[in-house]
Order: sequence, then C-alpha cells, then structure tokens
Amino acid sequence: MFKSVPGPPAYPIIGNILDIRDEVPIHAMANLADKYGPIFKLILRGKEVYFVSNCQMVGELCDETRFIKIAPDALTKDRPSGPSGLFVARESDPDWGQAHRILMPAFGPLAIGHMFDEMHDIATQLVLKWARKGPENRIPVTDDFTRLTLDTIALCAMDYRFNSFYQDEMHPFVKAMTNSLSARNGPSSLWDVIKTLGGGTSQDLLNDRKLMADVAAQLVKFRREHPSDKKDLLNAMVKGKDPRTGEGMRDELISANMVTFLVAGHETTSGLLSFAFMQLLKNPAAHRAAQSEVDRVIGMAKMRLEHLKDLKYLNAVLRETLRLSPTVPAFVRQVRDENNENPPSIGGYELPRDRKVIALISKSQQDPDVYGDDAKEFKPERMLDEKFEKLPKSAWKPFGTGMRACIGRPFAWQEALLVTALILQNFDLKLDDPSYKPSVKQTLTLKPRGLFIRATLRKGID
Ligand code: HEM
Repeated sequence: MFKSVPGPPAYPIIGNILDIRDEVPIHAMANLADKYGPIFKLILRGKEVYFVSNCQMVGELCDETRFIKIAPDALTKDRPSGPSGLFVARESDPDWGQAHRILMPAFGPLAIGHMFDEMHDIATQLVLKWARKGPENRIPVTDDFTRLTLDTIALCAMDYRFNSFYQDEMHPFVKAMTNSLSARNGPSSLWDVIKTLGGGTSQDLLNDRKLMADVAAQLVKFRREHPSDKKDLLNAMVKGKDPRTGEGMRDELISANMVTFLVAGHETTSGLLSFAFMQLLKNPAAHRAAQSEVDRVIGMAKMRLEHLKDLKYLNAVLRETLRLSPTVPAFVRQVRDENNENPPSIGGYELPRDRKVIALISKSQQDPDVYGDDAKEFKPERMLDEKFEKLPKSAWKPFGTGMRACIGRPFAWQEALLVTALILQNFDLKLDDPSYKPSVKQTLTLKPRGLFIRATLRKGID
C-alpha cells in the first residue's frame, strides 16, 4: 500500500505558484521540504510536479533503469525550431547520441589537459587586473569570475577571445546571453507570476536568442573556411565522425552545441569559484590550510598541469563548496517508459508516469543521515579522497547523474583548481565587509549576492 504524497493546498488556476514565489525559489522549495518532508508535490502550470530532497530518494531517482532526464522548462519553453544542444535534447533524439559520442573524447582528461596553457593565460589576466588595481580596490568577485570563465570557455572551445578583462562594454553575444538568462529566472514579482501563466515570450528574448545563434553560426562558417589544427571543441565537432555511424555533425547542430557550451560552461564554474572564495573567507582555518597546500605544492614556481593532482585539500574545498552550494541546485527526472513497476514509486510513495520529479540536491546534499548534525557546516576534510570515496553515490550529485551527467566536469574542475590555486599563490585576500552574511542570487544557476573582496599581492613565500 503506497502513501500519498503531501503538499500545500493549491489555488484554482494559479495552483501553487505563490508557494515558490521567492527571490531565491530554490530556498522556498527547501522550506517546503522542511514542512512537508523528503517528498512533496505542487501544482505548477496545471500539472503536479514532485520534489524529492533526501539522499535515499535522490538515489532511487538516479537509477537509470527506472528514471530518465527531462530538461527543465526554463530551457525548453518556446525554443526556436532547429536541432537541440546536448543539455536540452532528449536521450532518444539521434542528435543527442551523435553529439555525445563525438564530444565525449574531446572532454576527456587528456584533451582537457591540453587546454591548461590557455586556461592559465586567461587566469593570469585576472591576476594582473587584481594586482594593478591594488589592495584598496573592492573586487566584485562574481563579475570577475564570470569574465574569466566566459573568456576561458570561448578560447578553449573555439579559439575566440572575448577579451572581457580589457573592455568595459561586454561583447553583444555576452549581453544577449545575460539578458536571456535573466529572462528565464523564476517568477519573483506578481507581474512575473502573471506573465508565467500567460506563457508569453518577449520579442527581446527571441532577438537575443537569434543573436547568439547567428554568432555561433558565423564562428562555425569561419572555421570551415579557415581550417586549423587546434585541438578545441569546435574542431572536435567540425572534424569528428560518429564512431557508430561514421557520419559528421551538421553545421546547425554544431552551432547549437557551441551556444550550449558557452552558456552551460561559464555561469556554473563562475558560481563555483565565487562560492569557494566566499567559504574560504568565512572559514579562516580552511583558508590557511588551502594556502599552505598551494605554497607547499607549487611555491613561487609557475604552475604546471602536474601540480593540480597534488592539490588534495583544494580539491576537497571545491567538492565541499559544491555540496553546500551546488550552482545547478536541482535536476529533473521522469519515470522511464521501459520501467514496468506497476505503479511506479519512490520511497514507498506512488508516482504518476508522466510527471516531473525534481531532485533538490541543494537540500539532499545536506542530508543529516549522511553528513551528520554538522551537515550545514563547511568542512573540506570530509571531502578528502578517502572519505569522499566512501560516501553513498547519491550523496554528492552537483554534476547530475548517469548518461546525462555533466560532460564539462573535467573542464570545469581543471579550470576551478587552476584559478583557485593561482589566486591563493599570488594574493592575501579578505572580505571587503568582514560582517558579510552569505546570501544567494538565483538566475539559471546560483551565485553569491553582493560579495566583494580585497586582494593584496603577496611579497614572497617563506
Ligand atoms: C550537464 C552541472 C560545468 C556542459 C550538467 C548537469 C549538471 C551540470 C547538474 C546535468 C543537468 C540535468 O540533468 O538536467 C555543472 C556544474 C558545472 C558545470 C556544477 C561547473 C561547476 C560545465 C562546463 C560545460 C558544461 C564547463 C562545458 C564546457 C554541460 C553539458 C551538459 C551538462 C553540455 C549536458 C550533457 C548531456 O545531457 O549530454 N552540468 N556543469 N558544464 N553540462 Fe555542466
């Protein structure tokens, strides 16, 4: 006998949309989980949506034989016609299979290792900027990390320099991308709620999307007309052949994936870096331990790829940061067609087949049954390799799960380790406002809100 799934009462027409009306909707969802338990349901746009938030149920949801990924509405709603990039495509879409098989080797550790020098180049631009502006400069950390991650993915993916550190005006592509991301933000005002119900898409949003698609198409055309030997993601797509069919990717599909990499590959990593420094500056013992490790492993030398594998504590800092502040705080699943449970269920609760189930990992990654009473505290030690490897698989899922897990994970990890180490090697840091209270901003991803730091160039290391 299955239990019925609890949830707040819904209003006619608007359902439960007001229950998640919050500047940070993911916080409203976590509050509902506190009230209704590890599974609850809401009526959104006329349909039941289920939310699970403990490690055990997220584990069930990650069972690839029973559940499958569904792309979030925010990304699929009113998409223009044409092929889908990896992130939003359905697994059954042949374009997803082809792009996945061609791109997997290009995102492997060896290929990403070859991108080290370019990542280092952009990271050095950030270090030079902070050094030149001096210790009195209030650094808008998140903005600078966004410049950095965008320039890095553009250079490594398609040999294109946005040069964001050298100009005040952002590139039109960046403006269009920023606008379209904020337009997809969750409803925060009553007017937004009404617009959401109306389901309209503004002309501005359509124009922004078109501009992004046009820029990507021009880059693909340019590469076709000016071939190069560069080992970047664009060449992997332009030259690659599907090992299953022997076919190459068509230009439209390449362009759709270029836009995907630029969008998926920068906000997420920029949020990770911003939260990592927020945590280090709020936790002086962890900050000292991280900086000592950098001094021990790299010292004053120029950083090399080989150094990264020895930065064990820094690795744990990044893992613990993504545990407490996953920049993609949730992912969406649905019962697989092949699942012949009758009826399908999760944790003893019945689930309808055609309903979305959201894994609230920002909550499940703080499950006290796994992480104990101090689950909300920042303790990198618990994420050192020997402890990390013993955690249940579903306890840490910031990169999603299964076949549809993040293809960019090795890229993001190398970049984040490199940048964190380079900053700690070169600067002593402090919060601009020592009483800064951690606060979060939610667009498509999560980032710290209002975080400013100061950076003093280190004179030498003992
Ligand atoms: C998928 C997180 C960096 C490209 C995902 C998913 C998550 C995620 C949670 C699965 C989403 C779902 O199931 O709906 C992150 C985080 C990152 C990061 C936390 C950084 C800290 C990157 C980078 C790239 C990238 C750097 C590209 C260079 C993608 C793509 C997918 C994906 C293409 C879709 C894969 C597929 O479905 O085949 N990412 N990501 N991500 N990510 Fe990332």
